[in-house]
Amino acid sequence: MRSGSAKQENYNDKVVRLFSLAAVVWGVVGMAVGCFIAAQLAWPELGHGIAWLSYGRLRPLHTNAVIFAFGGCALFATSYYVVQRTCHTRLFSDALAEFTFWGWQAVIVAAAITLPLGYNQSKEYAELEWPIDILITVVWVAYAAVFFGTLAIRRVKHIYVANWFYGAFIVAVALLHVVNSAAIPAGWLKSYSVYAGVQDAMVQWWYGHNAVGFFLTAGFLGMMYYFIPKQVGRPVYSYRLSIVHFWALIFTYMWAGPHHLHYTALPDWTQSLGMVFSLILLAPSWGGMINGIMTLSGSWHKLRTDPVLRFLIVSLSFYGMSTFEGPMMAIKTVNALSHYTDWTIGHVHSGALGWVGLISMGSLYYLIPRMYGKQEMYSKPAIELHFWVSTVGIVLYIAAMWIAGVMQGLMWRSINADGTLTYTFVESVKATYPFYVVRFIGGLLYVFGMLVMAWNVWQTARSNRFVPVPVRTVTQLAHA
Ligand code: HEM
Ligand code: HEM
Repeated sequence: MRSGSAKQENYNDKVVRLFSLAAVVWGVVGMAVGCFIAAQLAWPELGHGIAWLSYGRLRPLHTNAVIFAFGGCALFATSYYVVQRTCHTRLFSDALAEFTFWGWQAVIVAAAITLPLGYNQSKEYAELEWPIDILITVVWVAYAAVFFGTLAIRRVKHIYVANWFYGAFIVAVALLHVVNSAAIPAGWLKSYSVYAGVQDAMVQWWYGHNAVGFFLTAGFLGMMYYFIPKQVGRPVYSYRLSIVHFWALIFTYMWAGPHHLHYTALPDWTQSLGMVFSLILLAPSWGGMINGIMTLSGSWHKLRTDPVLRFLIVSLSFYGMSTFEGPMMAIKTVNALSHYTDWTIGHVHSGALGWVGLISMGSLYYLIPRMYGKQEMYSKPAIELHFWVSTVGIVLYIAAMWIAGVMQGLMWRSINADGTLTYTFVESVKATYPFYVVRFIGGLLYVFGMLVMAWNVWQTARSNRFVPVPVRTVTQLAHA
C-alpha cells in the first residue's frame, strides 16, 4: 500500500476533476430546464409561442441533460477515480481519457443545440441524430479502452466489485446504443430507424429499460460499492452477496423491457415475460440495497453527524422504493391504471432524484475535496442544507405525482351507469393543476440544493486550506 499525497501524483486526477465539475454544472442546467418544463405544464403559455422554447423540444433537452450530461459526467468521474484507486495504477491512457472528456462535452453541446432546434429521432432517451450517435460511439469505445485497459494493467490480482458494475455499464450501454440507433441517414440531420412497426417499439424499449438498468443503475451501484464503504470506513457488508447481486441483476434486467409496452401490438406472451422478469428483478435490486445499507451496521450513529453519508444512504432508500414500485407497475393490471399517468413520472423521479441524484451528489462530495488536495468540502452546513432541501424537494415532487397519477387513472376509467365516461379529459387536466404547482416547487428546492453545491465546490476549489488526505483502499477494507 502506497500512502498519502505522494501516491496521488501517480493517478490521473485531472480528468476526474474535469468530469466532476462538469457533472455539477450540467446538473444545475439540466434540472433548471426540468423546472422550466414543470412550470410549462402548470402555465402552458410560458413558452410564448417560441418554437425552441416549446415543451416538446425542451423535454428531451431535460432528459438528455440530466441523464447523459449530469449522470454521465458523474459516472465518468467516479469510474476513473475508482478504477485507479482499486487497481493501484494510473489510467491506461491520459490522452484517450482527455479525449473522452472533450468528446463527451461535444456530444452534450451538440444535443443542447440540435434538440431545441427540433432535430429528433423520436426514440426516447435516444433522440440525437445519427452524426451525434457516431460521435457517442467513438467516445464510448475510447472510454471502454481507458477503463478496461486500466483493469488490464492493474497491480493487484483482485478486481473489486465496483469495477464489475462499471464494466457492465460500459459494455451494455455500447450494445444498447449501437443496436437501437441503427438508422438509414436521409440527410445530415434526418434518418429513419432500420426497424419498423412493433419491432421498432420492442428494440426501443429493450434499449429504454436497459438504459434505466445499466445507465441509471449499474454504474451508480459501482458508486455505492466504493463510496459507501469508504465514507463509513468499513468493508462492504457481504462481498459474496455483491457477486450474486451483480450476476442476478445484469441477467434479469435484459428481459424486462416489454413492461413498457403492455396492452400494445406486442405479442401477449412477450408482455407477460416482461412482467415476470420485472417481478424477479425485485430480488437482486433489494439484495443490492440491503448490502449497501447493512454496510453501516455498527456505525449507524455516523448518520447523525455525517451529511455526506446521509446522501449515500438515503439514496439507497429511494432505490429500494423505486425498485419495489417498478415491479408493481409492471403487473399488467396495475399498469392498466398507471400507464399514461403522472404516476410513471413520480416513479421515474423517485429513481432519478432520489437514487441517481443523491448517490451522485454523495459520491461527488467525497471525491471533489480530494481532487483539490483537501480532506473535506469547504462548508459542512452547506452540505446539510443541500441534503434537506433536496430531500424535501423529492418528497414534494413524487408525492404530488403519485396522487395526481392515481387520480388521473381513476378519473379516466370511471364510467356512469349508462356506459358514458364520468369525466372529460379536460376535467382530469384541471384537477391535476395544483399537483403540477407542488411538483414545480419541489423541483425548485432540488435545483436550489444543486446551486448550493455548486457554490460549495467553487469555495472548496479556491480555498487555501490544505489538509493531506489519508488513503485506504476499498479493496483493503473489503478484505479487512
Ligand atoms: C429539479 C429537478 C427536476 C425537475 C423539476 C424535473 C421535471 C421533469 C418534468 C416536468 C418532466 C416531464 C414530465 C411529463 O412529461 O409529464 C420530466 C421528465 C423526466 N425527467 Fe425530470 N426533473 C428533474 C430532475 C431529473 C433528474 C435529476 C433526472 C435523471 C437523473 C430526471 C429524469 C427525467 C426523465 C427520465 C424524464 C422522462 C420521464 C418519462 O418519459 O416517463 N429528471 N422531468
Ligand atoms: C426493479 C426495478 C424497476 C422496474 C421493474 C421498473 C419498472 C417500470 C415500469 C413498469 C414502468 C412503467 C412503464 C409504462 O407504463 O410505460 C417504468 C417506467 C420508468 N422507470 Fe422504472 N422500474 C424499475 C426501476 C427504476 C429505476 C431505479 C429508475 C431510475 C433510476 C427507473 C426509471 C424509469 C423511467 C425513466 C421510466 C419511464 C420510461 C418512459 O416511459 O419514458 N425505473 N419502470
